[in-house]
Amino acid sequence: MRRTVLFIFGTRPEAIKLCPLLLKLRSFPDLYSTQVCVTAQHRGMLDQVLTAFAITPDYDLNVMTSGQTLFQSTARIIQALEQPFAASKPDLAVVQGDTTTTLCGALAAFYSGVPVAHVEAGLRTGDLSQPFPEELNRVLTAKMTRLHFAATPAAADNLRREGISERVWVTGNTGIDAVLHVRDRLERGELTASGSDFDRPGKRLILVTAHRRESFGEGFRQICRALAAIADRSDVHVVYPVHPNPNVQTAVHEHLRSHPNITLTEPLDYVPFVDLMRRAYLILTDSGGIQEEGPSLGKPVLVLREKTERPEAVDAGTVKLVGTDTSRIVRETTALLDCPDEYQRMSRIHNPYGDGRASERIEAAIRDH
Ligand code: UD1
Ligand code: UDP
Repeated sequence: MRRTVLFIFGTRPEAIKLCPLLLKLRSFPDLYSTQVCVTAQHRGMLDQVLTAFAITPDYDLNVMTSGQTLFQSTARIIQALEQPFAASKPDLAVVQGDTTTTLCGALAAFYSGVPVAHVEAGLRTGDLSQPFPEELNRVLTAKMTRLHFAATPAAADNLRREGISERVWVTGNTGIDAVLHVRDRLERGELTASGSDFDRPGKRLILVTAHRRESFGEGFRQICRALAAIADRSDVHVVYPVHPNPNVQTAVHEHLRSHPNITLTEPLDYVPFVDLMRRAYLILTDSGGIQEEGPSLGKPVLVLREKTERPEAVDAGTVKLVGTDTSRIVRETTALLDCPDEYQRMSRIHNPYGDGRASERIEAAIRDH
């Protein structure tokens, strides 16, 4: 019997990580009728991904407002989700990750009596304040989930420690399906990436992204001071696609606008961004997804956070936590720039978060279930 599966997502990373699974289910039209509900918690950055994967949503809740608070986005999303659930009457709802959309998507499914599949289940730092509010979103979403798709064995262990051991699959991360697919197509020349040519002769490219709520204010000021100090070197070019959150935009533009070795850009489309990661010498980020993608592309990643829910690459030595302290960020970046041995140690290609076949495994588990 054909089952209706409703995908719910709203931000850039959820879209990047759910589109490969959506396309996988769509390759079995006899088994699944798929529907897509986007909350558009992110508007522009979501649309960039929908265009890249050629996905047209069945429901677009268009909730984003500029500078939205957690209260505002949570209230708008949960209210707006009632109608799509009533209309589509799904057999399964699929959510991903740990955003406000994830939590509200799972809650709306629970209120509608629909089982939830959670993709990227089991990530934990063990500290509800980091990342904020994502750690709580993960814990609460797990409570409402029927099918738990953990990317790694460690994530599955986290669920077990919370008493969740039934219907847990270790699948790899669907974000790695996406990044390896795009990398391979770039390498074969099947895709071209316009807008990613930030190369400057004689300079090493340092790619930066940062957007975490717990770093707003002093954390961002410290990150920006570090970037300015690093960019004072004549042998680097810092490229920073700036997250559109006003708390980020204001701090970053105020501190870094006029530095000659720093290029601030709008968020890049996914394909050019993957191309830019390939070209980068090293990456500084507080992003969850980029912590996973960096190792798959063999790029050293310095994480601008105190704690991570993705310990695998840290343990393997290709990702390092450096926090938001200015002097530490400068010291660790300088070590990578000036010490070839250190750079070599951190530049190994490996795939602790997936082998590119996560969507295949998740589809098989959904089918069996
Ligand atoms: C959200 C997620 C975070 C995820 C991040 C990925 C929550 C609580 N946070 O954080 O887990 O890591 O997305 O990027 O769910 N904006 C735009 N255009 C866009 C997107 C955002 O202008 O396309 C601006 C708006 O002013 C918006 C603000 O950014 O109000 C914040 O967006 P929001 O989704 O609330 O938080 P993020 O910081 O993006
Ligand atoms: N990304 C992108 N364009 C950019 C910056 C990031 O396409 O300018 C992609 C990146 O490759 C990764 C995802 O966006 O797949 C990460 O999103 P983000 O850092 O916003 O969220 P997080 O992963 O921290 O939740």
